Amino acid sequence: MTQPQTPTAPAAASDEESLASSTNEASLARSVARSAEIEADLDVNPGRYRMLTGVRPTGNMHLGHFFGTMSSWATIQDRGVDTWILVADYQVITDRDAVGPIRERVLSLVADTLAVGVDPKRSTIFTHSAVPALNQLMLPFLSLVTESELHRNPTVKAELEATDGRAMSGLLLTYPVHQAADILFCQANLVPVGKDQLPHLEQARLIAQRFDKRYGRADRKRPVFRRPEALLGEATLLLGLDGEKMSKSRGNTIELRMTADETAKALRKAKTDSDRVITYDPVGRPEVSNLLLLASLCGAGAPEEIAERIGDGGAGRLKAVTTEAVNEFFAPVRARRSELLANEDHLLSVLRAGNEKANAVADETLDAVRTAMHMHY
Ligand code: TRP
Repeated sequence: MTQPQTPTAPAAASDEESLASSTNEASLARSVARSAEIEADLDVNPGRYRMLTGVRPTGNMHLGHFFGTMSSWATIQDRGVDTWILVADYQVITDRDAVGPIRERVLSLVADTLAVGVDPKRSTIFTHSAVPALNQLMLPFLSLVTESELHRNPTVKAELEATDGRAMSGLLLTYPVHQAADILFCQANLVPVGKDQLPHLEQARLIAQRFDKRYGRADRKRPVFRRPEALLGEATLLLGLDGEKMSKSRGNTIELRMTADETAKALRKAKTDSDRVITYDPVGRPEVSNLLLLASLCGAGAPEEIAERIGDGGAGRLKAVTTEAVNEFFAPVRARRSELLANEDHLLSVLRAGNEKANAVADETLDAVRTAMHMHY
């Protein structure tokens, strides 16, 4: 009896998968389930993973960043995962005309990163602009995506809308491809992301897949690129002090670098409501609940408990309690941060060591890419 022939080529279906699929419910559920599996595996097999995350140096880091992502970097590193942190300096110019005080911001970000516990001996901190081979991957990668695919990316669309009528730059349209290079150049297989960044990760996987399909070795047993996966954090969504989305440009943040007094001053201006009895009710009382959440994240107990303790103490008491919790929690981080900032040579040497390591890996990857493309002379 003849067996049905097993196709030798990889199934076409996954390659035909469109970017839009990452936004549908089923795909989201798959990502959530897979992320939970990885989360469980991290402690068993930390050596299987290389984690990459990126931050744009567009301003000062604030508590939204801290509780959203930064606090997890050192935790992941301490669990034994090879941790890479990219200071995405080229990504600054996706949606603006000037780089701003970029050098200060980059150094400040390096200080923040070290202050929250990232150890430069175990982890790699580097910048886009210092790693030419990473950026060169953008060329072959651009040939692997279509214009309509780029235009459909929901995150790019949202970011364009946030620029208030600015024309879409070529870099904004294609930055998901650059971001794919960020991830793929160092063979990272784990990227901590919020749900809004899932389309980017999907794009990176598609690029890896398409590259290997187009240029991969005939046996396809040793793909040039690893397939990155998402580590979906629990979304701790802190609002800004005005109750809107927390963002640098809105000026509604508490920054990591603020002093205790500046923190108190910012919190005194926070929006609340006129009900003197403090209750935790995120839907009905978002501003009050946001301050309770912030105090809770800083170790003051569960939000409901804090509310009960304050009782009819009103907004003034709530702000005082929150200020104390924030200042106490961040005191050691802030102290480390200012110590680090006073030593620019140290920050630069951390960055240079990271860049050197990133360059070594990037050169190797680009070499494999050029070999696969028969461009090795
Ligand atoms: N786009 C990310 C942000 O704005 C930063 C970033 C750049 C990134 N490259 C990355 C994140 C690669 C994850 C992976 O925060």
